Amino acid sequence: MGRQVIIQELPKGELTAEHFSLQDAPTPAPGEGEVLVRTCLISIDAANRAWMQGATYREAVKAGDVMHGYIVGEVIRSGDPAFKAGDLVEGEGRWAEEVICSARGLQKLPAHRPISHQVSVLGIAGKTAYHGLVGVGLPKPGETVVVSAAAGSVGIFVGQIAKALGCRAVGIAGGAEKCAWLTEELGFDAAIDYRGGNLFRELKAACPDGVDIYFDNVGGEILETVLFQMNMKGRVVCCGAVSQYNATAPTGPRNLPGLVVVKRLRMEGFIVMDFEDQDAKAVADLSGWVKDGQVKVVEDIVEGLENAPAALVGLLAGANRGKRMVRVAPDPA
Ligand SMILES: NC(=O)c1ccc[n+]([C@@H]2O[C@H](COP(=O)([O-])OP(=O)(O)OC[C@H]3O[C@@H](n4cnc5c(N)ncnc54)[C@H](OP(=O)(O)O)[C@@H]3O)[C@@H](O)[C@H]2O)c1
Repeated sequence: MGRQVIIQELPKGELTAEHFSLQDAPTPAPGEGEVLVRTCLISIDAANRAWMQGATYREAVKAGDVMHGYIVGEVIRSGDPAFKAGDLVEGEGRWAEEVICSARGLQKLPAHRPISHQVSVLGIAGKTAYHGLVGVGLPKPGETVVVSAAAGSVGIFVGQIAKALGCRAVGIAGGAEKCAWLTEELGFDAAIDYRGGNLFRELKAACPDGVDIYFDNVGGEILETVLFQMNMKGRVVCCGAVSQYNATAPTGPRNLPGLVVVKRLRMEGFIVMDFEDQDAKAVADLSGWVKDGQVKVVEDIVEGLENAPAALVGLLAGANRGKRMVRVAPDPA
């Protein structure tokens, strides 16, 4: 028997914890090609909310589903020869203590501890930041990189990787406290509170040489404002649009495609899986930077499966600092 979180009703507008419910379910048995996993950690991602808006790069979340999510856990029983009991695995799962996963969607993990790093710096967050910045942004030393949702799970790594590569890193985040933390603790050159003042003016002051790369996690009005300050031949890395996920009336930049034409910008979207063939290099580089102190790992771990809905609702409202995840069970021995 294990607990699971159901999405009872899909939100129209703002997601709340009341859209979810908790229930007990009998332990499922894996069929052929399936694996029963005991969940240790669930990654809480802004994308979880985007999946409720319809099919994207993956299937949509539907009302009545056990909530979908990326998990790290331990194999309990396997119906596939590639996995055996005791293996540590990651992959597409559900918000549940016991999950049946398709073996094709699972990957074995190395013995690295803590396993939370497989969700943060060596997992989705770190790889998204790395592939987006390095693979799409193509940074050169001395360039200015601006990142939005800078204090979030992807953003903290984008800024720190930019610094490790010799760039100037400027973050955009909600609140003076988060901004001070980005510069004082994580080594960003500057950080701007988008809720506080005049983003356009403050960005201009923080980027005296203009913006070469904008790593866009939020879309909407912030994207519009940053586009005005892009340099010629600048690159806009389109990673996500969290400002739109809870919105009922989407807002978008009004300066498109005009500024892309005039400034010869390249705007390119990506999904982290597009760069799977570069994962080993990403993990090696990120591990090296963590070891030599150039990249700090900030994890925001919420205890208990029952708190997963509030963890996602809070993330969309900016309650997290660094990579948010939910601990469902202790790390395997
Ligand atoms: N392309 C890919 O493969 C891929 C993979 C993973 C994630 N992503 C994308 O990366 C982005 C970050 O996701 P995440 O899961 O790492 O979440 P996160 O950055 O840890 O958390 C989301 C952050 O967004 C900020 N935010 C919320 N509403 C906002 C608004 N209206 N305007 C500006 N900022 C707002 C909040 O911080 P503040 O306090 O600063 O507002 C919040 O902390 C998302 O767009 C997600 O879809 C893409």
